[in-house]
Amino acid sequence: MAEYAVLNTGASMPLVGLGTGSDGALPLDRRKAAISAAVEVGYRHFDTAKIYNSEGFLGEALKEAMEAGLVKREDFFVTSKLWCSDAYPDGVLPALLNSLSALQLDYLDLYLIHWPIRLKEGAIQNPKPDELIALDLQGTWRALEACVKQGLVRAIGVSNFSSKKIMELLDFAEIPPAVNQVEMHPKWQQRLLRETCKKANVHVSAWSPLGAPLMYWGSPEILNNPIIKDIASNHGKAPAQVVLRWGLDNGASVIPKSFNKKRMVENLDVFGWHLTDEDHQHISGIEQKKNIDGSFICSPVSGPYKSLEDLWDGEFGL
Ligand code: A2P
Repeated sequence: MAEYAVLNTGASMPLVGLGTGSDGALPLDRRKAAISAAVEVGYRHFDTAKIYNSEGFLGEALKEAMEAGLVKREDFFVTSKLWCSDAYPDGVLPALLNSLSALQLDYLDLYLIHWPIRLKEGAIQNPKPDELIALDLQGTWRALEACVKQGLVRAIGVSNFSSKKIMELLDFAEIPPAVNQVEMHPKWQQRLLRETCKKANVHVSAWSPLGAPLMYWGSPEILNNPIIKDIASNHGKAPAQVVLRWGLDNGASVIPKSFNKKRMVENLDVFGWHLTDEDHQHISGIEQKKNIDGSFICSPVSGPYKSLEDLWDGEFGL
């Protein structure tokens, strides 16, 4: 049985969502079939973004499920994100309309500013340093607020925002952000950010909650960690379920990615039990954010900033 987070808008968001970003290796029809399988096994929360190129096949799969009478639009919670090259006041509405059109939806449940940066037109993931433009956060946020007022989105929020940036946004927001979606897992526990967001009534959602085991910036170390494996064996659970339960126990929603039906089922089956205080203590002791080669776990989009510390206002890895 899925459970829900209640956002500061009053809306309910299923605590486990399916992430749809990928390296694109799997053909589109297989990715669409995976979404249909996800709907069938019970996923109702889907996370996409313009930059993932997943809005099209996600929209098709959801439409087919609705046409088949399996689900209604209001059963789904769909999040998309404003890409950095559209993150300026006049860029917001056209970008949102494009996302809605790709998704074949007339509203989004949640629309997030993808990163706290603006990039030149055409810049994609891994941007070059000279593609970075200063973000007009207030103007961009006002444009997002207008989209809520028009009924095009039910809630707005941010992604990859430090505590400092959240506080800056709260200072002028007429509609406060409902969600801050950030990389969060046992090797990047986001302790300070969780405290800040809790006090500010901003829900934290964890992207790559499994630590992105196959990505070059991620790490298989988390699912293979002996502490996690021990806890999993004590509870009769899979390591991935322990890692997801850790996020949920810490008040976050989790958005694991999988295109495999068996692992989708496993990732949704994380309710009705908790980690013990002792489990939490052990996980707290896991070394933070150092990758095998000494580099850090993070998304490559942070490149335009001088450093991750800079992007995260000194909070990186806390
Ligand atoms: P797959 O699509 O083959 O299931 P994250 O969400 O942290 O970015 O991690 C996504 C990656 O984790 C994907 O490569 C996915 O592969 C893999 N994955 C998803 N669920 C599980 C699971 N339950 N156990 C092991 N690996 C998983």
